[in-house]
Amino acid sequence: SPSDPDLVMRARAAKEKLGDKVFVLGHHYQRDEVIQFADVTGDSFKLARDAAARPEAEYIVFCGVHFMAESADILTSDDQKVVLPDLAAGCSMADMATAEQVAECWDVLTEAGIAEQVVPVSYMNSSADIKAFTGKHGGTICTSSNAKRALDWAFEQGEKVLFLPDQHLGRNTAVRDMGMSLDDCVVYNPHKRNGGLTAEELRAAKMILWRGHCSVHGRFNLDSVNDVRARIPGVNVLVHPECKHEVVAAADYVGSTEYIIKALEAAPAGSKWAIGTELNLVRRLANRFAPEGKEIVFLDKTVCFCSTMNRIDLPHLVWALESLAEGNLVNRIEVDKETEAFAKLALERMLALP
Ligand code: 13P
Ligand code: SF4
Repeated sequence: SPSDPDLVMRARAAKEKLGDKVFVLGHHYQRDEVIQFADVTGDSFKLARDAAARPEAEYIVFCGVHFMAESADILTSDDQKVVLPDLAAGCSMADMATAEQVAECWDVLTEAGIAEQVVPVSYMNSSADIKAFTGKHGGTICTSSNAKRALDWAFEQGEKVLFLPDQHLGRNTAVRDMGMSLDDCVVYNPHKRNGGLTAEELRAAKMILWRGHCSVHGRFNLDSVNDVRARIPGVNVLVHPECKHEVVAAADYVGSTEYIIKALEAAPAGSKWAIGTELNLVRRLANRFAPEGKEIVFLDKTVCFCSTMNRIDLPHLVWALESLAEGNLVNRIEVDKETEAFAKLALERMLALP
């Protein structure tokens, strides 16, 4: 829907007043009405890398979800303040791994006698606490655009990986990109005693996958792929690696949001694409590439927004920018110093991956 012209004017005025004092980052899943005000847009890797790109900006307004704003706080200097326009913009996947559960899991691995062989690899979509756990235990963070490189690195450090919290990204990367088999992977369920696994199962596994998932991407299934192939002959199926393994295995291409955009930019006129990721992005790409004769459809028949990404809307952005312009620091995201130190270690290992 078109943005409210009054709010657009107010956002523009507040941003102009703030000038170089504000740097606005926008994840690709953000609404069009918000993304138009982003100084930089990107996937989670690019936004983590670019968060520190404007050291002179006092405020970093993060249009995305909570874990991204935390990562931006960790990676920027202490006098830069990160603001999340709606504090309720969380991520259900990140919430699936708490610090207590992960500490308990480490005890289980220790009991099974394998903790020394295990390197934790945590998806960016996790809380700062989980990133700190990862840093403390010699592991790295990854995103959907560097998961293979992160796993290559981790298997140089140890024999096994504990992959948190997205079981699908972990499994898809292990099987699709690393040549492992499904049998090399076990799923640790934090709601079951000992994760629902025996010590023998843990010892035999190469990949210990945390039982987390994204509810948005979890909506796609094999039928979605088969239906679209029947409906649109010659269609290219391009999905995000947070999708279930059956979807990724049936797709033609798999990659992060930034990869999806690049693939469509490079696609020839007349080509047809079904995209399995969040709907704000798919709609924006469909509109952008329609004039070039590229047909882009959503992989499923039902709508599939990320409800927490969508919480950042134009009224929230205007409120945040106007508050900052008046000198009121609102909705600051600040990670405590000890957590930050270990989380930063893990994030910097990611940024240093070859
Ligand atoms: P990327 O932008 O890294 O592909 O991640 C998608 C996502 O789910 C972010 O929450
Ligand atoms: Fe979290 Fe999924 Fe939304 Fe990404 S799309 S922020 S993983 S719930």
